[in-house]
Amino acid sequence: MLQGKKILLGITGSIAAYKAALLTRLLVKEGADVQVIMTPAATQFIAPLTLSTLSHKKVLVELSDNEEWNNHVLLGRRADLMLIAPASANTLAKMAVGLCDNLLLAVYLSTACPVMIAPAMDEDMWRHPATGNNMQLLLQHGNILIPVESGELASGLAGEGRMSEPETIVKYVKDLLDPKQKPLAGKTVLVTAGPTYEPIDPVRFIGNFSSGKMGIALADEFAGEGAKVNLILGPSHFLPQHTGVKITRIKTAKEMLDACLGYFKSSDITVMAAAVADYTPQNPVEKKIKKKENTLEIVLEKTTDILKELGKQKKKGQFLAGFALETDHEEENAWKKLREKNLDLILLNSLNDEGAGFAQDTNKVTIFTGNGQKKQLSLKSKKEIAKDIVQFIINARSKTH
Ligand code: CTP
Repeated sequence: MLQGKKILLGITGSIAAYKAALLTRLLVKEGADVQVIMTPAATQFIAPLTLSTLSHKKVLVELSDNEEWNNHVLLGRRADLMLIAPASANTLAKMAVGLCDNLLLAVYLSTACPVMIAPAMDEDMWRHPATGNNMQLLLQHGNILIPVESGELASGLAGEGRMSEPETIVKYVKDLLDPKQKPLAGKTVLVTAGPTYEPIDPVRFIGNFSSGKMGIALADEFAGEGAKVNLILGPSHFLPQHTGVKITRIKTAKEMLDACLGYFKSSDITVMAAAVADYTPQNPVEKKIKKKENTLEIVLEKTTDILKELGKQKKKGQFLAGFALETDHEEENAWKKLREKNLDLILLNSLNDEGAGFAQDTNKVTIFTGNGQKKQLSLKSKKEIAKDIVQFIINARSKTH
């Protein structure tokens, strides 16, 4: 419930503004006190009368109405949340640089509460580097992004850029303003993601094709369920979107080991999704290796199996999960790793499954548990797989606690 929560709903000039009516209705139904603020352009897409009727409040558009000043500072100070949905490319750009040519932007600049943004635009606009840079800035400024969805767009094309559905937006709002209701509230989760880079010399390394997407999606999902998440992230181009995820960046397997040992003791749940190097150059050299001989030998030494190490340290009540990436004898190897590493659960990724594995947006995993359960998940987006895994872990823990 959002009983008594004061929400400023900012609506900007986008076709998706038609969804703002349902969004307002849903927020009010949850008990929120909604003050709608529209940009002048937004009023061409949806009538203020519709929104004032649904929110039971006069809609604010201008800095002053009938010689009365709408105090943007007080509006921002008294709110629990400012939600901008839909947020057009134009408004995002103005917010990123601090422009202030309408009431909505003035409130944004003076607000002290969290700000959530649900962008809506055509795919080309969404993917334009200028919009990307603006979004990066807005995230750095502490704003919370409600990710865009894929589907039909106003241009008649299909692609990324649709505003999230009102029901999804309300879920994000509830996650933020009412975290106590979440199943993992008060729990700490450790997740690893991405590849590791093992230096050969100052300019070369041994790495792998892991994108980090699976672990990042898991970190986001755990945070969405109320957990405090520590993500140990190797070199990846991607980042989590949930503000409940604290990131520790590492490069090498040794750095990942040290970071994991630091966080493991206080973690209720740990999921090791990183593709950690099994071997590292024994003697990385300080100077760049020059091209001389026809062949070059680099001696590699085994790294510590972090997951196995955590399995040894695991205490009663701690839940430990890992991945198994296999090309043959998949199931047999998965059970073996589950036992040998003292895990509660292992997620098998078979590289023989099309659409599964590294650097893809989809994945296909089979879950094996310490008490002999096996469950195959169908080929889905990594985000959906992460959702299923997190729900599975929540259910598995609730049976043993
Ligand atoms: N793992 C780890 N530390 C390592 C290697 C792997 O923590 N040095 C973890 C991975 O994060 C994953 C699990 O162990 O959760 C299994 O990784 P995988 O590469 O499938 O198996 P390995 O145990 O490394 O065995 P092999 O490469 O021989 O299959």
